[in-house]
Amino acid sequence: MGTEHVQHRDIAKFAVDRVNLPKDKANEYRAQARRLREKLDNYLGEHPDFTLKKMLLSGSLAKGTALRSLNDIDIACYVGGADAPQDVRKLIKYLAERLRSAFPNFSPDQVTPQTYSVKVSFRGSGLDIDVVPILYDGDENWYGNLVSQDDGSFLRTCIPRHLEFIRKRKTEHETHFAQVIRLVKFWIRHQKQKNPGFRFKSFMCELILAHLADQGLDLSDYPEALQHFFTYVARTGLRKQIAFEDYYRRSAIGYFSDPVQIIDPVNAKNNAACLYTTNQACEITDVALDAGDAIDAALRAPTKQKTVYYWQKVFGPAFQV
Ligand SMILES: Nc1ncnc2c1ncn2[C@@H]1O[C@H](COP(=O)(O)OP(=O)(O)OP(=O)(O)O)[C@@H](O)[C@H]1O
Ligand SMILES: [Mg+2]
Repeated sequence: MGTEHVQHRDIAKFAVDRVNLPKDKANEYRAQARRLREKLDNYLGEHPDFTLKKMLLSGSLAKGTALRSLNDIDIACYVGGADAPQDVRKLIKYLAERLRSAFPNFSPDQVTPQTYSVKVSFRGSGLDIDVVPILYDGDENWYGNLVSQDDGSFLRTCIPRHLEFIRKRKTEHETHFAQVIRLVKFWIRHQKQKNPGFRFKSFMCELILAHLADQGLDLSDYPEALQHFFTYVARTGLRKQIAFEDYYRRSAIGYFSDPVQIIDPVNAKNNAACLYTTNQACEITDVALDAGDAIDAALRAPTKQKTVYYWQKVFGPAFQV
């Protein structure tokens, strides 16, 4: 049986060797982000009316769900003040100008506007930092209008609460919640390598896994947890609404007409999957079905070679034991 050849501990080892961002790297990048944030804090100390109010590590590095292939650091920047442009293109330009004032030691070409963010490049060591603006009106819980990195629209949301939401599940399912997320993200990465048009947003996976974890799914056996995730996606076709009650009651959720509905746990009016079409949902369902079948086959395979062959269908040629 395939379980003799590849079992939970082999998947766990593969994760450490090939999937996860190593801890020392994560700490190094977090320190890099912290230094930039401290620079802004110092500047704010001297210029209390400055309109960049706060920087916050967001994205996978903040959530502890980063892959080894991480190639930039996401930082959200709260932009307040009456003169902050409401138009995305102007807002990005404005953010770049303000960052240049706050960081005079950076040459202007180290702070460059991108489509929906501003890139801060470091000479020599470290990763680039991607600064994403959040239009901020002074909300005490740090809600604000985040510029979507998918289409530049404004999303009313709350990064600190997202981090708290994930942290809660990480505490309830120590090690395993974050690990299964990273394994699923690695699977997505492999799907994208095979088909560059494939889309499955990390945040959506995290919310699906949070939903399964909240329903009592045991995540401590990785082949089983992955199999459950793929089965869930294949069974529902992503056409069943996912929602949480951490920050509002289910009754607060209004009507959505979008084919895929994974409601932002911090804002009942924001569907985190609103950009996904029926076709994209079908594509995700198809590859999830394949992955589920491959794991089934791997668990039953008679030889080590066959077992590895099936696991490679899930994770690609990087998978070795
Ligand atoms: N549609 C959305 N609605 C609300 N918040 C969002 C949405 N999309 C992204 N975010 C916020 O941005 C953060 C980062 O997005 P996402 O999870 O897609 O990337 P990531 O965690 O950095 O993963 P990756 O490794 O793919 O870069 C999320 O944790 C969430 O706080
Ligand atoms: Mg990211």
